[in-house]
Amino acid sequence: MTPRSILTPEEAAFARARRVGRLATSDAAGHPHVVPVCYAFDGARFYTPLDEKPKRASDHALRRVRNIEARGEATLLLDHYEEDWSRLGYLLVRGRAALLPPEDPAHAPALALLRERYPPYRAMALERRAVIALTPERVTSWGPALALADPTDPAPGESVWLQPGRGLDFMPLARERRSVRAFHERPVPRAALEAMLEAARWAPSPHGRQPWRFVVLTRAEPKQRLAEAMGDEWQRTLAMDGEAAEVIALRLAKSRERIRTAPALILACLYLEDLDHYPDAERQRAEEVMAVQSLGAALQNILLAAYSLGLDTGWMCAPLFCPETVRAALALEATLLPHALIPVGYAAAPRRRPHRPASELVVRFD
Ligand SMILES: Cc1cc2nc3c(=O)[nH]c(=O)nc-3n(C[C@H](O)[C@H](O)[C@H](O)COP(=O)(O)O)c2cc1C
Repeated sequence: MTPRSILTPEEAAFARARRVGRLATSDAAGHPHVVPVCYAFDGARFYTPLDEKPKRASDHALRRVRNIEARGEATLLLDHYEEDWSRLGYLLVRGRAALLPPEDPAHAPALALLRERYPPYRAMALERRAVIALTPERVTSWGPALALADPTDPAPGESVWLQPGRGLDFMPLARERRSVRAFHERPVPRAALEAMLEAARWAPSPHGRQPWRFVVLTRAEPKQRLAEAMGDEWQRTLAMDGEAAEVIALRLAKSRERIRTAPALILACLYLEDLDHYPDAERQRAEEVMAVQSLGAALQNILLAAYSLGLDTGWMCAPLFCPETVRAALALEATLLPHALIPVGYAAAPRRRPHRPASELVVRFD
């Protein structure tokens, strides 16, 4: 790792894809100080605002500001961690640090970049506050995450799509996604769930009517309620099928556990209200089949979006067999037809099932 003064394209992409960094400064006596910071990178310098409320602290009262004024230097650490250690990485940028006062010509562009990356800054009155600028002098980086950073990422435009993820192109994404049935406890970031739902809305649908609605559960109480209600219903049907009591007990326990312990659950419901209505049963059925096909497309978008963001998903068809129980447990309207439950989280026990080769699936290719 030879230090450089400019970032490679991969390092720049890695820097842009991170959301938070650690800014280290020290005072004249060398006492260190580290704070987490939001930042923007314009290709030459890093910028981080002073976003505390002016009433609470003037610019000069802040320790990092005093340290920068005293020494004119700072270090920014950007890192990426995930349980899969083949995807770790960090970028360490040491350099000259300075405070850009509001009248500095670089202040407004820096603030614009920061506001583009972080929407909350748009509502804050930062025009009269200094921005810290860090000019890289010694750059080092390490880790496979750097190789995964895509230099073609649109520069600082910020959306959850630039969150650290698996950084896959489409084919590996399609190939590597797999159904996961056990998850770590680690919660799923809300932004990731929102990104998955955003992906869903771009799925093809009959007449463009998007005949699906989603219920997202992250809190323990509704998950537990759903698990119990569905378990009770399943117990009744398994007993009807003549399953042995101990088999029923085991399957029920597993199913309840899956629902209860999933860090997040997305219940996908069919919603037929906006579709066309036909007088004859045949066309009506075709219309509804189209809606189901489209729900599958929306769900595949969700699964792939999740995987691309470093998350994993499963698929439970159980709601399809007890729609009323699910509706009652979650107080849903009768127009919502529960079809699938998608557990979301970080895989504890990933397993790859074999898939048939395409040659077996294509019956004719003229
Ligand atoms: C409509 C549908 C219903 C499914 N239902 C279940 C289910 O109830 N429980 C389960 O563990 N997996 C379920 N799966 C997941 C499949 O078992 C899984 O996709 C398949 O075995 C292939 O494995 P992979 O997803 O890991 O590639 C379902 C998948 C689909 C498409």
